[in-house]
Amino acid sequence: MKKMDFENKWVIVTGASSGLGREIALYLSKMEKANVFIIARRTERLEILKDEIESTTNSKVKLFTSDLSIDGAGKELFDYCTGTEEIYAIINNAGLTAYEVASASNMKTYEKIINLNYKTVVETSLLFLEYFKKKGSGGILNISSMAGLMPLPYQAIYSSSKHGLSGFTLALIGENIKNNVNITLFSPGGIKTEMVQSSGLEDKFGKNNIFNMDASKVAKTAIIAFKNAKVHVIPGLMNKIADIMQRLLPKKMIASMFEKSYRPIDKK
Ligand SMILES: NC(=O)c1ccc[n+]([C@@H]2O[C@H](COP(=O)([O-])OP(=O)(O)OC[C@H]3O[C@@H](n4cnc5c(N)ncnc54)[C@H](OP(=O)(O)O)[C@@H]3O)[C@@H](O)[C@H]2O)c1
Repeated sequence: MKKMDFENKWVIVTGASSGLGREIALYLSKMEKANVFIIARRTERLEILKDEIESTTNSKVKLFTSDLSIDGAGKELFDYCTGTEEIYAIINNAGLTAYEVASASNMKTYEKIINLNYKTVVETSLLFLEYFKKKGSGGILNISSMAGLMPLPYQAIYSSSKHGLSGFTLALIGENIKNNVNITLFSPGGIKTEMVQSSGLEDKFGKNNIFNMDASKVAKTAIIAFKNAKVHVIPGLMNKIADIMQRLLPKKMIASMFEKSYRPIDKK
């Protein structure tokens, strides 16, 4: 794995219409001079981002509207993007959670979370891996979560989808350690984004939860890690300490601690 250089190259960012993905696209274009292929469902949000990037940088922007939770969406994204431009990297960032008692939701919601956070990312990772191998260069950055490293009660399906993604990405790194494709796993803790608001986590922990990092800071850490061919990065000192603690302590203790801390307001 070697250092990456994004200048004048096309980088795909999924989930770029808000939060971390939006900040990643801005950082890549402003600081790394990359051209960005931005993907999400909300086209109008993508158009606003395209205007912002094109009016403030020399980077080019293309957008592709897609619901990545639908079967075959990864292949459709791959065909469209590689058919339009030569792609240098993909950042699989789009994600969704549900904050509730695991049995309270329904299989439709679970399928959507698993398809978006895990299945489509597996599909795009494998398709782009072969594409980059043929080209002899390229990179895949998979945005997982600390919920993919430890048990997270009341986000059980999200946590399991991210565990799957983390395991898949690390195994893929192992298989490809000797070729010219960079693969990075990124596992953030809480970030101040729409996901925290729309899931109800903000109501539980408050708007100014000190443990939630700024999306722009997390985006910068993610791109620097990817650029420097890091295998696995957790942003933020507190998160790094929490990861070490959760690896040392018994899993029952960790699950019980997080159960108390994440217990929904309406569940006594
Ligand atoms: N926020 C946190 O505390 C936190 C912590 C750890 C990890 N993460 C991870 O960081 C990543 C970004 O999340 P975020 O916090 O920035 O959340 P966010 O602000 O809610 O952004 C999620 C992005 O994913 C896109 N998306 C959602 N469903 C989609 C679908 N079916 N098809 C295509 N795109 C879809 C959304 O765009 P549209 O709605 O326009 O489709 C949006 O651009 C996720 O993988 C998340 O798991 C977040």
